[in-house]
Amino acid sequence: MRILLAYDSLSGNTKMVAEEVEAEFKKSGHAVTSFRVHPDAQYPLETDYDLFILGAWTADLGRTPPDMKDFIAELGMKPPHVAIFGTGETQWSMAYFCGAVDRMATYFESDYPRLKIEQMPNNERDHEAIRNWVAEVLSMREGVVK
Ligand SMILES: Cc1cc2nc3c(=O)[nH]c(=O)nc-3n(C[C@H](O)[C@H](O)[C@H](O)COP(=O)(O)O)c2cc1C
Repeated sequence: MRILLAYDSLSGNTKMVAEEVEAEFKKSGHAVTSFRVHPDAQYPLETDYDLFILGAWTADLGRTPPDMKDFIAELGMKPPHVAIFGTGETQWSMAYFCGAVDRMATYFESDYPRLKIEQMPNNERDHEAIRNWVAEVLSMREGVVK
């Protein structure tokens, strides 16, 4: 499958998750185009991707960060297969924890499982959650396109 992985990361936590996610998809033999969203970037959106993976940190009170919002606007469509991950902090309250993940999943009407990591993947439970999430996303998608 051709997979687009776009992520927004201010201080590096979400980038760490994105790198693990990318490695897992590649281990399964998929072609991943991966980048960090940025206001000045030229995005490789001409390809007909089979699966979109979007990742973001969460900004003020559960919101999607501005650069990811801009990327979604530039995408200009709601692809049928979008899976969302993100990082956040429970100290912002459970109501807002990784709120961007829920907002993006709602916007894209995504039925895929959502991956939420507290800050950064720093223990085996986090690494396992990432591996399991990629496996679940693939099993949902692979029934349609190999
Ligand atoms: C201004 C600001 C607001 C934040 N608001 C939330 C929030 O509402 N919910 C949440 O889960 N995390 C919130 N966070 C925490 C970040 O989402 C979290 O630290 C994340 O892992 C940062 O990812 P990054 O290192 O990829 O930028 C906020 C952080 C900042 C700086």
